[in-house]
Amino acid sequence: MATNYRNLRDYGCWLQYDLLPPELLARYGQQFEAIAVKGGKTLTEAITEELRLGLAGLLGTSVSFVEAEEEASLVVRLEGEPAEPGAEEAFRLQVQGDEGSLRALVSSTGERGLLYGTFAFLRALQLGEISPGFKLEDGPSTPLRLINHWDNLDGSVERGYAGKSIFFRENRLVEDLERVRDYARLLASIGINGVAVNNVNVHQEETQLIASKLAMVKTLSSIFRGYGIRLFLSINFASPWEFGLDTADPLEPQVQQWWKERVAAIYSQIPDLGGFLVKADSEHRPGPFTYGRTHAEGANMLGEALKPYGGVVIWRCFVYNCQQDWRDTQTDRARAAYDHFQPLDGQFMDNVILQIKNGPMDFQVREPVSPLFGGLERTNQILELQITQEYTGQQRHLCYLVPMWKEVLDFDTYARGEGSTVARIAAGAVFPMAFSGIAGVSNVGSDPNWTGHTLAQANLYGYGRLAWNPGLSAERITREWAVLTFGHDPEVVQTVSSLLLGSWEAFENYTVPLGIGWMCNPGHHYGPSPEGYEFSRWGTYHRADRTAIGVDRTVQGGTGFAGQYRAENARLYESLESCPEELLLFFHRIPYTHVLRSGKTLIQHIYDTHFRGVEQVEEMISRWEQLAGKVHPETFSHVRERLEIQLVDAKEWRDVINTYFYRLTHIPDARGRKIYT
Ligand code: GCU
Repeated sequence: MATNYRNLRDYGCWLQYDLLPPELLARYGQQFEAIAVKGGKTLTEAITEELRLGLAGLLGTSVSFVEAEEEASLVVRLEGEPAEPGAEEAFRLQVQGDEGSLRALVSSTGERGLLYGTFAFLRALQLGEISPGFKLEDGPSTPLRLINHWDNLDGSVERGYAGKSIFFRENRLVEDLERVRDYARLLASIGINGVAVNNVNVHQEETQLIASKLAMVKTLSSIFRGYGIRLFLSINFASPWEFGLDTADPLEPQVQQWWKERVAAIYSQIPDLGGFLVKADSEHRPGPFTYGRTHAEGANMLGEALKPYGGVVIWRCFVYNCQQDWRDTQTDRARAAYDHFQPLDGQFMDNVILQIKNGPMDFQVREPVSPLFGGLERTNQILELQITQEYTGQQRHLCYLVPMWKEVLDFDTYARGEGSTVARIAAGAVFPMAFSGIAGVSNVGSDPNWTGHTLAQANLYGYGRLAWNPGLSAERITREWAVLTFGHDPEVVQTVSSLLLGSWEAFENYTVPLGIGWMCNPGHHYGPSPEGYEFSRWGTYHRADRTAIGVDRTVQGGTGFAGQYRAENARLYESLESCPEELLLFFHRIPYTHVLRSGKTLIQHIYDTHFRGVEQVEEMISRWEQLAGKVHPETFSHVRERLEIQLVDAKEWRDVINTYFYRLTHIPDARGRKIYT
């Protein structure tokens, strides 16, 4: 049943390994037929298999593996000892010889470095970069490069838009474990080194993963291990209570003992488990607040239990009051994470890591960066991004998130003066940290193309590449992905790249203006509903009336959120004049007649962007159509269909939002376009 997927073009993602075009074949054909892989054991099979498959596909030859290095034109070799922690993930790729007789060496002090170097070699070959004298010394900037799955044991995926779980079905593992292996391979090819396999919302069945269902975890971890990826488990903070104790109070000795025994049992089965991921006191999940304890006390209790085994606790900062009264204008959800966690800075154990969503709210199409970045100086931390497109078109719309993530990573917190970017904090380069990194919420499911929308594969690829090296440009990552996925036709590469790179802007244009957020349907979060969340309990309000819209989050007169940033940014956001305009309605309450830097009024800006967004989707469709006959027919018609859906939905967004504001303001469009009344 499994194998039929594998024949489908889009199943292969960016590891297609199509025969290289003639100009590259002329340079590389028959060059790399004898290979020596020296040293290593756990990952040797993955490395040799990848080279066999990759070179056979790209060069159209079969390769042989030889013992003697002198007989090989490609050597993959373990060398020396890692000089510092993490160095075993770095590699060196060197090419010698002349065009016509190339010799390549991939070396590393660790097996994972060899695996990453192998993928880098195959990538460089496809990009035509391998040539005499080529040298690449590369290693990950961020030590932890994680994927979080929100998969439930019944097979459903929370906020999943690509089918069912690839791990679980009806409270068991799926039958097709070969597909899990294929997935591990995809992740390793972009440098991912950790995967949390179950949802952060741990329901009753999932609680059993640390007990009666541990064998499932063991099986999955052994598959991922073959690709250098450690497994993490989301746990329920109240597990001791679920398993029969009358409390889960972290300061109760019997609770501490319970966790120690559980952790010992887990590590006896899975000695290299990465650790636990915890959503506590968040959206009705239990946590230390139940017992009047702090999050530091809660997390440290788990840290103590995991410490002897080298495991870590990844503790999420997504803690806020989800029972707010919309009448209450004093409480500001944006403040919550900082208010909860900044005062605890320095109180967490050295194997506890805080996981912080990129923005202060919740993965909207536009948010400022969370002020916890730069606000925490003595706490291990990782950035959480959402690859799955919950609020960004749910993989029916093309919305390429790499440009957004670049902005997040490049954001300067000024925590240690200029250049204290989020990327450097995630790399552990601003504050000393025992652990740092990036986590992304998976967009993968059981659909044959993995991600629902085939072009959404680029979000997964881009996430991994950025986690590895946040310094890579969006253009570089996009071109890599386009070549690896679609081949070398310059028109295809150009068109696909421009579609991707323009799509976030288009999506923002036809949906929610200037950082105001939400305005989507409650619950499933798809499609427009301008007041869908306006009178709800979730703390996500825009407070539009007939003269103004937006939330005043300034210190002077607002909720004070702007004051959570370091002085440079606090000043920037505080003043209407200097606040970046794309975030204007996040920080300020503005009359519709306010004139923006473009010279347009706010209301005219809203109308214009909404008309423009739809035009952009129309342009995307006509550009895609130019590729008929140039990309695989299945991929072509699949993307064409999704773009058609996107166009219908973009028009709906445009008309609902424009009409909503017209009805409130009665200000007509200056250009006289159709707005429904
Ligand atoms: C969002 C999302 C939830 C998810 C939550 C989280 O609110 O809608 O489905 O559980 O984020 O990150 O924990």
